[in-house]
Amino acid sequence: MASQKNESIKTVGHNKFGFDSTVDVETLRSLYLTPVFVKDGSKVENVTGAPAKEYGSESTYDKATNAIQYTTIAKFPPVKLLPNSERKRILVTGGAGFVGSHLVDRLMLLGHEVTVLDNFFTGSRTTVSHWVGHPNFEMVRHDVVEPFLIEVDQIYHLACPASPPHYQYNAVKTIKTSFMGTLNMLGLAKRTKARFLITSTSEVYGDPEEHPQREDYWGHVNCIGIRACYDEGKRVAETLTYGYQRQDGVDVRVARIFNTFGPRMNPYDGRVVSNFIIQALKGEDMTVYGDGSQTRSFQYVHDLVDGLILLMNGDETRPVNVGNGDEFTILEFAEAVRDIVEKVQKDQGNPLAKRVNIIHKDLPSDDPQRRRPDTTRAKESLGWQPQWSVKQGIEEMVLYYASKLAKGEI
Ligand SMILES: NC(=O)c1ccc[n+]([C@@H]2O[C@H](COP(=O)([O-])OP(=O)(O)OC[C@H]3O[C@@H](n4cnc5c(N)ncnc54)[C@H](O)[C@@H]3O)[C@@H](O)[C@H]2O)c1
Repeated sequence: MASQKNESIKTVGHNKFGFDSTVDVETLRSLYLTPVFVKDGSKVENVTGAPAKEYGSESTYDKATNAIQYTTIAKFPPVKLLPNSERKRILVTGGAGFVGSHLVDRLMLLGHEVTVLDNFFTGSRTTVSHWVGHPNFEMVRHDVVEPFLIEVDQIYHLACPASPPHYQYNAVKTIKTSFMGTLNMLGLAKRTKARFLITSTSEVYGDPEEHPQREDYWGHVNCIGIRACYDEGKRVAETLTYGYQRQDGVDVRVARIFNTFGPRMNPYDGRVVSNFIIQALKGEDMTVYGDGSQTRSFQYVHDLVDGLILLMNGDETRPVNVGNGDEFTILEFAEAVRDIVEKVQKDQGNPLAKRVNIIHKDLPSDDPQRRRPDTTRAKESLGWQPQWSVKQGIEEMVLYYASKLAKGEI
């Protein structure tokens, strides 16, 4: 596995296009790697080793009663003080989800006014609860298939379930969310003259016949398969987006996101990264579908957030692939996860008695064999490229899931 940068990364973000999105990694980490205390009899131990901060939350899990006590500390992390002319009113739909919550953290730390709109179908209030009560933050429970009125300058439209078990759970609702949700948010952008960014997906390329995939490839999608509710939903959402641009002059941005992983990913969403890490942490067999020769590329969530913010604030209005081009087989990936979990367990003083096995099961239907982004456009028009190696990202995610496991949440 190639790595973009091996030394530890101190800051994320860019200062470009008049929007400074630079933030310290340690500040971001303290929002998802919070101290977790486990009470076992009279012994109380900080199992994550995360240092206590004067802001953020803590929790204590009591093994005897299987109860968890949350402590909210009444100070928020420091946010930038922006002059009115620079402070934007930003709506993030799906802001309580995995990607959305990281975007919200970044926008809040940068000093903007952020409204999260979410129906909590796959997202959770806990992902952004550390901002509740902050004067720059608002959380609204709302379903995007219904119209929503608010005055905003920018809309990041993420609301849509993203993992196959969730988007297939109610396929018709997924299509409604993609179509009607996007229609409603574009209508809002038209009325308020807000800039609109939609998080589309590499799934618009289907099971591609071209590798790597460039933005001008039209895709190879099965319009009646089990993934179609998501793939075709996103394709029509893109069509609507460019319809509003051509007809109504709405200022639009389209990000085609490739597989992304990181802390706060729903542990039960059936995505390969979360499955592997949880199986390995629990000492269970790791399941590879098919022979494991199918390839994937994975990007770490902080890189994606960098890309989304650059795209929103730059001039590129064509679709832009945002993904990590490092391609490797699912089997290689499973082996890397196993090695990193073993390292973290050893560092934390609880190594597993024996190595977990990697086992194989049948491939689900319509599972693409290869998917890898061509990110030339992101590099040329946004000056963006991933800086996190997959291994660095997996280690962060293993620490996060290990703390969830310790407090009985997995
Ligand atoms: N994570 C990835 O690898 C990936 C890849 C490609 C595209 N994307 C896109 O990025 C966006 C975010 O994905 P994620 O991984 O954070 O998924 P997620 O499921 O964690 O987040 C989606 C959020 O949208 C909310 N939501 C769903 N339907 C809604 C509705 N009808 N009304 C209001 N809120 C609703 C959910 O509750 C959740 O908080 C999605 O649009 C997804 O298609 C993600």
